[in-house]
Amino acid sequence: MNSSTVPSELVSRLRDARAVAVITGAGMSAESGVPTFRDASAGLWAKLNPQDIASPEGWARDKSLVWAWYEWRRGLVSQAQPNAGHYAIARLSASLQQLSGHATPVTVITQNVDDLHERGGLSGALHVHGSLFAPRCAACDQATVFTPPPPTEPVERITPPRCTRCGGFIRPGVVWFGENLDFRLVGQAVNTVRLSDVLLVVGTSGVVRPVSDLPTLARESGAWVCEINPIASAISPVAHLCWRASAALALPALLQSLSEAKGGP
Ligand code: APR
Repeated sequence: MNSSTVPSELVSRLRDARAVAVITGAGMSAESGVPTFRDASAGLWAKLNPQDIASPEGWARDKSLVWAWYEWRRGLVSQAQPNAGHYAIARLSASLQQLSGHATPVTVITQNVDDLHERGGLSGALHVHGSLFAPRCAACDQATVFTPPPPTEPVERITPPRCTRCGGFIRPGVVWFGENLDFRLVGQAVNTVRLSDVLLVVGTSGVVRPVSDLPTLARESGAWVCEINPIASAISPVAHLCWRASAALALPALLQSLSEAKGGP
């Protein structure tokens, strides 16, 4: 299928849907210039060992290395802009309401720790892997606020700030390998996919649980599952339809097709 061709079944499934879920991964932000994790050459995990950087063990071994890496990523994301795909997802619910005449909630479950969905106009995204912008104390868990501007270039080590309440080290507000996700957010994500008629899975390799389990759960619960990803992923076998296109190309094209479908049969 030509990547810019919007699959007609996707349009008709969305037109009939009463509730839509969207799962996003690093590919969602790739066209904003934020690197993915598992791209063979440019992916973050192609150059770094995740256990050194994104695990409680890595943090225990070298806090300054871990903090500097997340600060660099905060800087990168702060300079990035939402892409056309982020804007399209933010407008999807309104677009579906115009098409079908009934309210169609669209709930986004994102693994991304950036804020590009929000800056693209979306509210209520479930950030199941946390946020680069929500640091907290590693000892007493108190949320804190950043004041220093993040570095614009990679820096090897930055000593993490201290908690104003207990003096503990401030850690990134993200979920690391080996850590539990916030059970309330996971519960909301599970309910969302179980109640959805259509699930779009955009830009994830689908290898990190529990999010990687959600497309199967959605399908078992009766949802129609569509993957949007330029290359095959672990999600592809679960999807009813795989649209081989990038997020910034596919999602605005989808919105355009939905607006053209209004008034159609
Ligand atoms: N549009 C859509 N998809 C894209 C694009 C794009 N422009 N560019 C790349 N992709 C796809 C890739 O083909 C790949 O399938 O995005 C996916 C990115 O996969 P990963 O790098 O593995 O990212 P993700 O699935 O979000 O990783 C899950 O792993 O280490 C972690 O916590 C981190 O949240 C992350 C989790």
